[in-house]
Amino acid sequence: MALTNTSDRYGFFTKLFHWLIVALFAWQYVSGNIMTGMERGQLVAGMNQNGYYNWHKSIGLVALAIACFRLLNRYMGQLPAWAPTLTTPEKTFIHRAEQALYLTMFVMPVSGYIYVMAGGFGVLLFGQWKMPNPIGKVESIAFAAKWVHIGAGWVLAAAVLGHLFVVFRHQFVVKDGLIRRMLPQRKS
Ligand code: HEM
Ligand code: HEM
Repeated sequence: MALTNTSDRYGFFTKLFHWLIVALFAWQYVSGNIMTGMERGQLVAGMNQNGYYNWHKSIGLVALAIACFRLLNRYMGQLPAWAPTLTTPEKTFIHRAEQALYLTMFVMPVSGYIYVMAGGFGVLLFGQWKMPNPIGKVESIAFAAKWVHIGAGWVLAAAVLGHLFVVFRHQFVVKDGLIRRMLPQRKS
C-alpha cells in the first residue's frame, strides 16, 4: 500500500490517522459523558471520577497531536478522485461535513485545554506529569472555553452522523462498497 494518497486511493497514513481518530474520539465521548454524569467517590468500570478526568484530558491531547499530523498529511499530498458513485449533492454534503470534522478535530481539544487551564484545574498528563499553565486562572476564559467545548461536541456529533449516513447509505443501499476506500487494501 502506498504511504501517501495517490490519484485513485487513500494511502496508509490517511487510513491510519482516520481510524486512530475514530478510536480516540469514541473514548473521548464515552469518558466525557461518564465523568460529567458520575458522583464523587463513585466507581464506573473500576475507575473514579478523577481517573476519568485524567484520561480524558491526556488522551484528548494525544488526539490533538494526531490531528496535527493528519492535517499535515492531507496538505502535503493529493486527494484521490471522488468515488464515481457519489452524486453532486452528496459531494457538496461530504465536503461540508469534512470541513466540520477537521474544524472540530482541533476546536474540541484546544477548547478543553483552555478550559482546564483557565479554570485552574490543570492537566496531570497520564497521572504522571503536571503540565505548566501558560494561561493562569481566568474565570471568563474558562466559562467561554467550556461552552465552546460542549457546543463543538454537538457539532462534531452531527457531522459524524452525517458522515456515517453517507457511508452506510452507500454500503447498504447503493452497495458500491464505499467503505473499502478507507480500509487496508486487500491483495487481489
Ligand atoms: C479531543 C477531543 C475531545 C472530545 C471529542 C471531547 C469530548 C467531550 C465531551 C463529549 C464532554 C462532555 C460534555 C458535556 O458536559 O456534555 C467533554 C467534557 C469535558 N472535556 Fe473533553 N473532549 C476532548 C478533548 C478534551 C481535552 C484535550 C481536555 C482537556 C485537556 C478536555 C476536558 C474536558 C473537561 C474538563 C470536560 C468537563 C466539562 C464539564 O464540566 O462539563 N477535553 N469532553
Ligand atoms: C465508524 C465511524 C466512521 C466510518 C465508518 C468512516 C468511514 C469513512 C470512509 C469510508 C471514508 C472515505 C470516503 C471517501 O472519500 O470515499 C471516510 C473519510 C473521512 N472521514 Fe470517516 N468514518 C468514520 C468516522 C469518522 C470520524 C469520527 C471522523 C472525524 C472526527 C472522520 C473523518 C473523516 C474525514 C475527514 C474523511 C476524509 C478523508 C481525510 O481527509 O481523512 N470519520 N470516512
